[in-house]
Amino acid sequence: MNWTARVLTLFPEMFPGPLGHSLAGRALTRGDWALETIDIRAHATGRHRSVDDTPFGGGAGMVMRPDVLDGALTAAEIADAPLVVLTPRGRPLTQARVAALATGPGVVLLCGRYEGIDQRVIDARGMEELSVGDYVLSGGEPAAMVLLDACVRLLPGVMGAAESASEESFAGGLLEYPHYTRPALWKGHAVPEVLIGGNHAAIAAWRRSEAERITRERRPDLWAAYRAAPSAVAPETATTARPEAARVT
Ligand code: ADE
Repeated sequence: MNWTARVLTLFPEMFPGPLGHSLAGRALTRGDWALETIDIRAHATGRHRSVDDTPFGGGAGMVMRPDVLDGALTAAEIADAPLVVLTPRGRPLTQARVAALATGPGVVLLCGRYEGIDQRVIDARGMEELSVGDYVLSGGEPAAMVLLDACVRLLPGVMGAAESASEESFAGGLLEYPHYTRPALWKGHAVPEVLIGGNHAAIAAWRRSEAERITRERRPDLWAAYRAAPSAVAPETATTARPEAARVT
């Protein structure tokens, strides 16, 4: 059985959407992974087939019903695959979590809508709550697409050598260094001299120091973690001399 994603949503027509294109889309066509949507509304019962109701305790908006979601989750089960709810109040999704999900059998994703999801179904099913960033989307669907895109590109055979994951952002705890191509001079801006010279050690040192500078400037959180645990650095990007790490900033 190939890596399988089952997505519970009120808007199944949103899928595959962007996942039907480019790298993920080609992998989907090849059968490297499978994507199945489960229409939450199909699991609604009762005369009105309602999927949501007003919140106990009052307040704005509607809450998705636990009985309806439980039925949809039963239909979506994948043996040993984690159940994930996409929500802005979840733990931040990281490359490490993505890599772990990609090595498993797949994932079941619940896309929230309205104001929220009844907490009892999240607790009863032991669901993992994940966020794709500190901003609020109108629903979990775009977040599910983000998570799936990040996982699928790591599946065996999906990324070619050209898209190798070993040197990219986060692989070694650092953001990626800047890239340049022809023309060597564009609108008066030259490519950094070191990249033209063919001195591979100098190029590697320059790239590392740029990766460190960018990480330090933009992501103090990543920079602190990198400095605290240099052993976490991927071997292919590690150097013995790390002058930036030795400096107290
Ligand atoms: N649903 C709405 N906003 C979200 C976010 N930032 N991450 C995950 N799911 C969401």
